[in-house]
Amino acid sequence: MTTASSMDRREAIVDGEFAFTNQDFKKIAALLYAQAGISLPESKATLVYSRLAKRLRTLGLKTFTEYCAFVALDSSVDEQQEMLRALTTNVTRFFREPHHFDDLRANVLEPVADRVRAGGRLRLWSAASSSGQEPYSMAFTVLSVWPNAADLDIRILGTDIDTNVLATGRAAVYDESLLEGIPPGPRNQYFERDPGDRRNFRVCESARSLVAFRELNLNGPSWPMKGPFDAIFCRNVVIYFDEPTQERVWNRFAPLVAPGGRLYVGHSERVGASVTAFESAGLTAYRKVGGR
Ligand SMILES: C[S@@+](CC[C@H](N)C(=O)[O-])C[C@H]1O[C@@H](n2cnc3c(N)ncnc32)[C@H](O)[C@@H]1O
Repeated sequence: MTTASSMDRREAIVDGEFAFTNQDFKKIAALLYAQAGISLPESKATLVYSRLAKRLRTLGLKTFTEYCAFVALDSSVDEQQEMLRALTTNVTRFFREPHHFDDLRANVLEPVADRVRAGGRLRLWSAASSSGQEPYSMAFTVLSVWPNAADLDIRILGTDIDTNVLATGRAAVYDESLLEGIPPGPRNQYFERDPGDRRNFRVCESARSLVAFRELNLNGPSWPMKGPFDAIFCRNVVIYFDEPTQERVWNRFAPLVAPGGRLYVGHSERVGASVTAFESAGLTAYRKVGGR
């Protein structure tokens, strides 16, 4: 006779404190895909186990089957956010992939410098902003062109699905170690030591005032923004999406980017040829087709 516990053991896909079956993995993967568009291949089963085991412990659950039943409840919105946070990566840094900021300056900002100085509008979007290093690097680049950017019609939007990282972005306070790699010029110019904790630095007011953070799911049914954006950074997030979801995101960006505007993607991401609204404009940079 097969007992429940021997069944659990036989089907277990990861050995550990909590029973975790292939069925459980499939349910978690389906939930994450429906929620955020993120695809989890079965090779990630150990990672899923190790990232969620703490949630089971906190909730006092004994098996992943119990966890799956709990997290799938309509009333478990908070746990769905916890699961998403546990399974996504928020890794980012200031001036990550620095050539994008050089390109932004040379091909997006400088060509419109006079128009913006005369009151013209400039809009930039960091579409998976994580804890803010990316939109603030965009703000520092903007300030290098217009030191008085705060007085001009310039806005930078930072969005992410994870409300915890957005709170970090709004606070704009970073440990000294996170500033490594920023050249001494902008580092001294755009950060001030936090008087409350000398190891922390706060992004200066002139950069903070340019950036607004909002919650946004790239896989969500509707996006409230109208654009047009002069440039969108959507980097190191669609790598977790399957191809149809990636293509849907690129096509949703298209009407939001001004003709001639830029879309920057992560170093291992691509906008495929089937997305005709964008053409290649260098390494992981794309230009919206049409004149400016
Ligand atoms: C690896 S970080 C990339 C941060 C930054 N763009 C960079 O390249 O340094 C990926 C971010 O995407 C966010 N994310 C994952 N799925 C998302 C979705 N469906 N909609 C919006 N943001 C999402 C995560 O919360 C995480 O902060």
